[in-house]
Amino acid sequence: MALSLLSIHNLRNIQIATVEPSTRLNLIIGSNGSGKTSLLESIYLLGRGKSFRSAYSRKIVRHDQVELTVFGKTDYQGEQTHSLGIQIKEGRFRAKIDGKYEQKSSMLASLLPLLLISPDGDKLIKGSPRQRRRFIDWGLFHVKQEFLAVWQRYNRILQQRNALLRQKNSTILQSWDAQLIDAAIKLDQFRRDYVMALVRQAQDYLSQLLDIEQIEFRYRAGWPSAEEYQIAFIENIDSDIKAGFTQRGPHRADLIMRVDGRSAAEVLSGGQQKLAACALLLAQAAVFNQCKQENCLILVDDLPAELDSIHRQLLMDLLYSQGGQLFVTATSQSLVDISRYSEKKLFHVKQGGFTVEKEDGN
Ligand SMILES: Nc1ncnc2c1ncn2[C@@H]1O[C@H](COP(=O)(O)OP(=O)(O)OP(=O)(O)O)[C@@H](O)[C@H]1O
Ligand SMILES: [Mg+2]
Repeated sequence: MALSLLSIHNLRNIQIATVEPSTRLNLIIGSNGSGKTSLLESIYLLGRGKSFRSAYSRKIVRHDQVELTVFGKTDYQGEQTHSLGIQIKEGRFRAKIDGKYEQKSSMLASLLPLLLISPDGDKLIKGSPRQRRRFIDWGLFHVKQEFLAVWQRYNRILQQRNALLRQKNSTILQSWDAQLIDAAIKLDQFRRDYVMALVRQAQDYLSQLLDIEQIEFRYRAGWPSAEEYQIAFIENIDSDIKAGFTQRGPHRADLIMRVDGRSAAEVLSGGQQKLAACALLLAQAAVFNQCKQENCLILVDDLPAELDSIHRQLLMDLLYSQGGQLFVTATSQSLVDISRYSEKKLFHVKQGGFTVEKEDGN
C-alpha cells in the first residue's frame, strides 16, 4: 500500500501543497520550522484519523483559517484503490472514504496502515505501559481480524464493572464477571501470540542495530504470572470492591525489556533507546507485511536525531529493505545518504511549500 497523491490545504504553515510521492523512499529536507513534521502529520491524519502531536484538532488548522483539508489517493501495486479525505472545520473532524463520510477511524487505518518513528520514539522503551500496550494493539488490530471486537468488548465491560465498583454496587457486579473473564482470556492469548512473533523479528533487528548482547523481552499479562486469569480475578474481587476499580487484567499488561537483568530504560543511552524502539517498529512492520502480504507505510520524523552516521545508514538500509513506502525527514541532505537506493524522491520544504528535486532513481 502506498500514497500516490497527497494534497494539503491549511494545515499548520502549509497553505496549499500537492505532492506526488515515490512509492518507495521520500526524503523531505528543510530547516527548522519549514513544515516537515506537518507533512507527516497530514499523512498520519489520513491513516489514523488523529494527529500525533495535538489532541485538539483546532490547533492543526492554519492560523486565521476556518478549515483544513487533506486528500490522499492510495495505490496498491500500481492500481489506484481508494481516495481518503480529512476535513477539520470549527473543531469538528470528518473523514471521507471514496467520497462517503466515514465515522470509524479503524476504517482509515485499514486502508492506509502506517507506523511512525518520531524523535520521541524512545517512549516505547521508557514510556508508560500504556504506550507499549497501544503499540502491541496497533499490530494486532491489523493482523488479527477478531482482535478489535474482543478489545472493544473487554474495554466496554471493564468500564461498566468499574462504574459499579465505584458505586460499591457488588450485588449486580457478578453478572459482568463471566463476560469480562472470557474477553480477558482471549485478549491475553492474542497479545501473547503477537508478542512472540514480534520479539522473534525484533531480536534480529536489534542484533543489527545495537552493539549489545541481547535485550530480554518479557510479556506481562496484567496479573500474577503463575495464576490463571479466572482464579487471579476471583480471588481479587474483595480487594477490587475496596479499591473501587478492577485491579487485574489485560488493561494492566506490559512488555518488559531488560539488558543484563536491568531495565532497558535505565541502561540504554538515548541513541540506543531510539534504535531499540526502531527495532520494535521495524519488527512490527515485518510482521504486518508477512501477515497481510502488503506493506505498511513508515513515517520517520527527524531520522538523524540522536544517531551517528553509521547508525543512520544502518537504520535507513533496514527501513528501505522493508519494501514499503517511506517518508523520512531531516534538516539537511548531508545527514541522510540516499544515493544507494534506487527508487526515491527528494523534496525540499520552505515555509510550507514543497519542491521535488529527484524523480525515481534519476
Ligand atoms: N496552526 C498553525 N498555523 C500556522 N502555522 C503553524 C501552526 N502550528 C504550527 N505552525 C508553524 O508551522 C511551522 C512548521 O512546523 P513543523 O513542526 O512542521 O516544522 P519542521 O519542519 O518539522 O521543523 P523542525 O525541524 O524544527 O522539527 C512552524 O514554524 C510552526 O510554528
Ligand atoms: Mg519537525
